[in-house]
Amino acid sequence: MKINGKHYRAIWREPSGEVKVIDQRWLPHELRIVTLANRKDFADAIYEMWVRGAPLIGATAAYGVAVQMAEDPSDASLDETYEVLHATRPTAINLKWALDEMNRVLRPLAPEARAEAAYKRAAEICDEDVEINRRIGLNGLEIIREIAAKKGGGRVNVLTHCNAGWPATVDWGTATSPIYHAVEEGIDVHVFVDETRPRNQGAQLTAWELNSHGVSHDLIVDNAGGHLMQHGEIDLVIVGTDRTTARGDVCNKIGTYLKALAAKANGVPFYVALPSPTIDWTVQDGVKEIPIEERGPEEVTHVQGKAADGAIISVQISPDGTGARNPAFDVTPAELVTGLITERGVVAADAEALAAAFPDLASR
Ligand code: MRU
Repeated sequence: MKINGKHYRAIWREPSGEVKVIDQRWLPHELRIVTLANRKDFADAIYEMWVRGAPLIGATAAYGVAVQMAEDPSDASLDETYEVLHATRPTAINLKWALDEMNRVLRPLAPEARAEAAYKRAAEICDEDVEINRRIGLNGLEIIREIAAKKGGGRVNVLTHCNAGWPATVDWGTATSPIYHAVEEGIDVHVFVDETRPRNQGAQLTAWELNSHGVSHDLIVDNAGGHLMQHGEIDLVIVGTDRTTARGDVCNKIGTYLKALAAKANGVPFYVALPSPTIDWTVQDGVKEIPIEERGPEEVTHVQGKAADGAIISVQISPDGTGARNPAFDVTPAELVTGLITERGVVAADAEALAAAFPDLASR
């Protein structure tokens, strides 16, 4: 997608061979592009959230393996790289998916063939992500079209949570892709953007990208969604996911579950944009089986922003001595999900429907 009229992906390889990412910690205030040069850089970038969002975490890990294979393509190095990168963040399944994929391709090869094959597969994973998200956009577009038609061409109001936009993927985003496709088609779409405490991915990233693309939007505090739904101001919710179970339970950024409950209570359709690498076919009950990342208390007790002099600063908002809990994700049970917008169409959130849509993956 575009920044100041120039097309970017969230991760890319330069003709020189360097792997670059946008360091998202500084957005929307500064666009900082950094080179990830070795395995430690890749692990730090994922762990410290220079890059974040399930699909982008996976793509970054894939390139991390490739960079390490260029340095040391031995079996021991492959094993250790898997462990180091896998340990960075526990919830998004795309990380494991991408590492397994690299392992599957590289393990049978002679060490001297691994670096080239690794760069090739990492580039393919990126291209596949872009195509999956484009298709999610086209499938989600049909939902938005239908709502627009029912409203006689009136404005379609979408609520979204966190950032499941293009900076969370390689390009397009998942939850934002239907929105971009609808806007491109001329449908009047307005997006309500949950700020998404504690890290404010909505305020800092979703608002930034919608702004860059001229998409009508309003930032709202996380607690406003239920009120807007009660007053008929939201036509549908579209969120992303970090891991969806084989029966359709959806793990996503903390607070998603509360939005799903409010949507159910108010008869608002609640859709999840779901690329197939985000499905964990090995788990069923998301609440019991998905590990939820617990992050440091300072994300809750402090907020980051831009001071009047332009400096990016962190400000304490709670008293000294107050502790904080910081679970980063929650699970929305399948029964609260209206539909899963996948690259193969809109699928009901249940085991049979998911397996029928992805028989090739479900049976692995
Ligand atoms: O902690 P983050 O910023 O990595 O969390 C991101 C989300 O929860 C997204 O909604 C999810 O990864 C889907 S991104 C297409």
